Amino acid sequence: MIRDIDRILIARGAISDRVRSLGEAITKHLEDVDADQEIALVAVMTGSLIFVADLMRHLPMKIRIQLMTASSYIGKSTQTNSDPVIGKLPNVKDMHVLLVDDILDSGKTLTRIRGKLQELNPKSIQSCVLLRKKLPSAMEVPCEYVGFEIEDEFVVGYGLDYDGYYRNFPDIGVICP
Ligand code: IMP
Ligand code: MG
Repeated sequence: MIRDIDRILIARGAISDRVRSLGEAITKHLEDVDADQEIALVAVMTGSLIFVADLMRHLPMKIRIQLMTASSYIGKSTQTNSDPVIGKLPNVKDMHVLLVDDILDSGKTLTRIRGKLQELNPKSIQSCVLLRKKLPSAMEVPCEYVGFEIEDEFVVGYGLDYDGYYRNFPDIGVICP
């Protein structure tokens, strides 16, 4: 598998340090939320699979984990298609929502999902992504927590895939052209 990876962009140690500090920042914010309020961590599958598993272990408060799905690619493509397909929405009425995804690229997925969740009348919504591409489209999307800013190149590993592969690669890397 490693043969297909051209170079490592973010090594596992740097990822884990950053995930810990994101967890601390989110915890600081959520601790101010009234203890009687429900907190929902809504994770967008499948890309955020590993990120959210690591992140939630740095969130010590009582939270409900809700998974939903979104997909933006048709087969072997590195270009997101115009309309992400969004799966069933979790019930987040009157909850404080932390929406977690792997990466902001065109920004369409997070914008769509956040808009749809907002219609369900949560108490609040904040978003968290591990990666954000330095693209105007991605920078425009409201996102309270960003792990790393990266150049506009296609990355895999730590949950991110190309055509369903490489999600299990423990670092974030760039695949061979
Ligand atoms: P967006 O809607 O264009 O922001 O794309 C978001 C989704 O596309 C992410 O949740 C990822 O699943 C996927 N995606 C975007 N860029 C990459 C990449 O560089 N590698 C792997 N997946 C990506
Ligand atoms: Mg995704």
